[in-house]
Amino acid sequence: MLIFMAHIISIIQTKGGTGKTTTTMMLGFALSSLGDRVLVLDADKQRSASDWAAAVEKDMPFPTISTPTDRTLKTTVNRSNNDDYDFILIDTPPGSNSIVESASTCADLVLIPSGVSPLDMERTQATLDSFEGTETPIAVVLVNVDKREKLLTKAQASLTAHTRAALADTIIPTRSATRRVGYTIPNITTKPLQEWLDLAKELKEAF
Ligand SMILES: Nc1ncnc2c1ncn2[C@@H]1O[C@H](COP(=O)(O)OP(=O)(O)OP(=O)(O)O)[C@@H](O)[C@H]1O
Ligand SMILES: [Mg+2]
Repeated sequence: MLIFMAHIISIIQTKGGTGKTTTTMMLGFALSSLGDRVLVLDADKQRSASDWAAAVEKDMPFPTISTPTDRTLKTTVNRSNNDDYDFILIDTPPGSNSIVESASTCADLVLIPSGVSPLDMERTQATLDSFEGTETPIAVVLVNVDKREKLLTKAQASLTAHTRAALADTIIPTRSATRRVGYTIPNITTKPLQEWLDLAKELKEAF
């Protein structure tokens, strides 16, 4: 019997407030709109992703399950990693803790959202360092970026030179349309949100 496994992407960044939950949920909406079956696992006790899905109530294009402990995360991943889903996206809390480690261990890809400021880049380097000695594929995506800023070029140069992680071609700009999406179903095909679709397409091509 053929068993198709879902692609598991864990969204990880030690720095808080960088855009992990936004990236997880927007990728969920974008992949769903491209016809993929998505499951979001919320491994953050803060429950931002779960609360977002709960606030929408109906017509969510994908389920979101709260998995705030190591055990619930592992069990739910094992139970869900079958042909029901094309992608399982795991939102994680900031910092380095055991649930982040579990999320990275079960991932086919660790996706690190990062800003471009020196503070962001320092935390991104620390996040990347935490994967030393592991073989999980890692990609960094620059998010919440002002595309006119010189810091963008600098961040791109240092990440392109990085040997352990790939850098996504797609850059997610700072947009009020993205800031407003929380607790709603965004109209993902509208122009101000198009980069999220671009990122979803880029990830799909990578698998
Ligand atoms: N591209 C963007 N444009 C505008 N605002 C953004 C963008 N990405 C994220 N934000 C805003 O930045 C804030 C932090 O985002 P988010 O909650 O996704 O970060 P997080 O990494 O999940 O935070 P935490 O570490 O607390 O879980 C939110 O107010 C969100 O709306
Ligand atoms: Mg979050």
